[in-house]
Amino acid sequence: MIIIKSPREIDLMREAGRVVALVFQEVEPLLVPGVTTADIDAAVESIIRREGAIPAEKGYYGYPASVCTSVNEVILHGIPSKKTVLKDGDIISLDLVAKKNGYCADACRTYEVGVCGERAKKMIAIAKECFDNAMSLVIPGVHLGDVCHAIETTAAKHGCTVAREYTGHGIGRDMHEDPYVPCYGVPGTGPILREGMTICIEPMIFEKGNKVRVMKDGWTVVAKDGGLTAHYENTLVVTKDGCEILTKL
Ligand code: MF3
Ligand code: CO
Repeated sequence: MIIIKSPREIDLMREAGRVVALVFQEVEPLLVPGVTTADIDAAVESIIRREGAIPAEKGYYGYPASVCTSVNEVILHGIPSKKTVLKDGDIISLDLVAKKNGYCADACRTYEVGVCGERAKKMIAIAKECFDNAMSLVIPGVHLGDVCHAIETTAAKHGCTVAREYTGHGIGRDMHEDPYVPCYGVPGTGPILREGMTICIEPMIFEKGNKVRVMKDGWTVVAKDGGLTAHYENTLVVTKDGCEILTKL
């Protein structure tokens, strides 16, 4: 069941979204060679708590940290560690959820560390382009399949593939609500979007193949072929005449 949010609930999600955006703004300068992903996690957690919010990922099905830190071929759910030291030329995605006054907001960005190669830069740009193209279709009355289809076609235009086993999602009181928002779709199918629905569109893209492997920690998802990956996500609300990003300052 897709839960339609009231204007009051959307205000609360906008506040959670502000916290998420603030985390990105404050943490980006820390993403330099030599920093560990455990350092990043500590910074993320302290900013979220300082803002009166809770890092909703921590403890979610036992997930041990406040942010997913996924480097290079890691597409999703990289666990912060003192042993993972960022180096020049890496790309890292930070995926995090803040919950404040009972409502969640979820977003992800992929960043360059130091000076990156052209391929890496391109992957970051393509993930955002996939998001922008999908978001541009969001309006009441549209089928979700149309929106999701735009993610895959945009990725394919650049020779990239998209995640099959992991998807975007609805969001609200819970981090994950109906509907599923895959990175692929069939136009004219799926739920019809209505004003007040809140969804996370999150292109997860692969430089090459989209086969994945989950590491022994039970969380870290990597591209089997070792190609680069990028991930971009925002929480948005369907409005009367389109949509609004909630994870922004
Ligand atoms: N933020 C992720 C998403 O986009 C979920 C992370 S899983 C967790 O859905 F266990 F880390 F919370
Ligand atoms: Co999400």
